[in-house]
Amino acid sequence: MTIQWYPGHMAKAQKQIKERLKLVDIILEIVDARVPESSINPMIQELGQNKPVLLILNKADMADAQKTQQWIETFKKRGITAIALDAQHKAKLPMIEKVAQEILADKLAKKRAKGIRNPVIRAMCVGVPNVGKSTILNRLMHKNIAVTGNRPGVTKNQQWLKASERFEVLDTPGVLWPKFDDPAVGNKLALTGAISDVVYHADDVVVFALDYFKQFYPNQLRKTYQATDADLEQSSPELIMILTKRLGFKEDYDRFCIKFINDARQGKLGRFTLDPVPAEAKGND
Ligand code: G4P
Repeated sequence: MTIQWYPGHMAKAQKQIKERLKLVDIILEIVDARVPESSINPMIQELGQNKPVLLILNKADMADAQKTQQWIETFKKRGITAIALDAQHKAKLPMIEKVAQEILADKLAKKRAKGIRNPVIRAMCVGVPNVGKSTILNRLMHKNIAVTGNRPGVTKNQQWLKASERFEVLDTPGVLWPKFDDPAVGNKLALTGAISDVVYHADDVVVFALDYFKQFYPNQLRKTYQATDADLEQSSPELIMILTKRLGFKEDYDRFCIKFINDARQGKLGRFTLDPVPAEAKGND
């Protein structure tokens, strides 16, 4: 479910997340691999008071695989550990615990030195709407076992979910607000579903997306909407008119725009990544 964010919502979410983050060893920030930079919330470092963060590029199955790898390298250069995931398939999920252990190796070694033989890692998922936080939580649990530890600070409604003997995750993810300042970021978040339908104009999003797809993924426009070379030379507003007619929607341009956004969100337009990879990470592009 996408949420419309107002300053009051943001302040409330910020306060709640800050309180709960005090309880964890590591923050699992989930982003959409198609918009790995635009779906990050820069507040997380501050909210987590510099707790370690594992950045999870989820929905990697819908993103441009080469760009996902380049983004992981970019984050590494920025000192952030990032992994790619497809939460709908369980196979890669154990990687979350494995990498969290690596990030927390020193802290865990100190606990062992103090006599704690099997120290438990506690984590919390955070992220903007629709990036797959709930899916990851559900898939992470082997049997959906809830650990109702009466640990200080955890409210009655909150529980630690046990992913393994040594890895527990708070059952409620922290929902962060998306970035709104840059219109391009807004268009990207709308296209991937992190921003509620009431806060954007479908035609603006589609003009933005067609400009991008014409440049980087023209074949996907050819394949999905039978766009011809001549069509792709038109401006994006003209292309909307052409494709609306081609799909038999007459002059119902809104109908085409809504279909385009739904097709993009559901992966019918093929894999794509909307955040350009910074030049230094491209290597052998
Ligand atoms: P949230 O808690 O962050 O808001 O996101 P949530 O888990 O609800 O996931 C949002 C949508 O994204 C869901 O689809 C979910 O199935 C899908 N999703 C999550 N992770 C992945 C992934 O790695 N790959 C792909 N392709 N999709 C993913 P939905 O259509 O809203 O719901 P449903 O049809 O699955 O019930």
